Amino acid sequence: MPRLRHFIDLEEFTPEEVLQLLELAGEMEARVRYEKATQGGSPITPLLPYRVMASLFWEPSTRTRLSFETAMIRLGGSVVGFAEASTSSVAKGESLADTIRMCAHYADCIVMRHPKDGAAYLAGKFSTVPVLNGGDGGHLHPSQTLLDLYTIYKEFGTLAGLKVALCGDLLYGRTTHSLAVALAAFGSQCVAISPAELELPPHVLHHLHSRYGGTVEQRRELDGGLDDVHVLYMTRIQRERFEDPEVFERVAHVYRLDRRIMDGAPAEMIVMHPLPRLDEIAVEVDADPRVRYFEQAFNGVPARMALLLVLMGHSHLFGQRGSNWRVPSVFEGTCSNRRCITHFDDNAAPEFYEFEPGKLACRYCDRVRDQLTLY
Ligand code: NCD
Repeated sequence: MPRLRHFIDLEEFTPEEVLQLLELAGEMEARVRYEKATQGGSPITPLLPYRVMASLFWEPSTRTRLSFETAMIRLGGSVVGFAEASTSSVAKGESLADTIRMCAHYADCIVMRHPKDGAAYLAGKFSTVPVLNGGDGGHLHPSQTLLDLYTIYKEFGTLAGLKVALCGDLLYGRTTHSLAVALAAFGSQCVAISPAELELPPHVLHHLHSRYGGTVEQRRELDGGLDDVHVLYMTRIQRERFEDPEVFERVAHVYRLDRRIMDGAPAEMIVMHPLPRLDEIAVEVDADPRVRYFEQAFNGVPARMALLLVLMGHSHLFGQRGSNWRVPSVFEGTCSNRRCITHFDDNAAPEFYEFEPGKLACRYCDRVRDQLTLY
């Protein structure tokens, strides 16, 4: 029996394993493209026949849910689940842990998205089948990072030595948290462009520095300063995560990538965005040959096919565990992140790990325990 392996965090995998996943994604992409071209639009690559994926989305999603579901169907499996909590027993007050226990009996893996930081880790504790984190609050979005890395890798043939500018809501934008850490792990550098209120959370900066020696250059302006940037990764301001609507209004429209800024940017720089895009990229930019965001969304299918294959069928290929694996836990204390699942669910018993000597971080949301900023 292959060992149970969840995908809560990209650091479940070592950088070498992530590269293997990207190679596998390339193979999946070739198969999908070939079958699409030759089988009249109903391509199947039946590597996971009769397997069932539960798709549990407590938060809105277009690309993540649909590309995971497409990936599973293209592998020959089937999908059950819900796209809004109001159609499941969650609406009757069922806990996350109970829903997960049930679904683990019905399905062979669980893909989930939940509004609370750390919800995916909680689910993993109660599941007997692999849990794949499709986004937990403002914490992490590792499968998005996998397809982002795949997009960058296809473009540059490497993930090392690149300069990636992340722009927008870096505080609540979970995609940038997973991506900044992954880029540091591969030896690439991040420039973080955000308003003061929306900087990358201190625990992310700390994490990428202490684990991988990464550094992040912080900036406020998008205009200018893109000269040596390989990837400009735009993000939307995450309205739904702001507690104070006034703060949202203040920062809502600070960045807008338009043709003028693109004219001053390097010819080889690509533009990415996890989507949905609001007004941070003008529609006029879409025709620019450096734009990759729609292709990036397509890459979600092969990247998630590779992930499903490894977690459900071929996990024996992956022997090692990443850097976050099995650091001993301490089971007392309170998480300082108000948005952490531990404050909302009785099943989420406090659990911390030693993040660096003398410093504990929450196992669910990675927030350093005695950090003073509460958000
Ligand atoms: C992102 C998300 O849900 O975090 N979308 C996605 O999965 N492609 C980004 C966002 O919602 O802004």
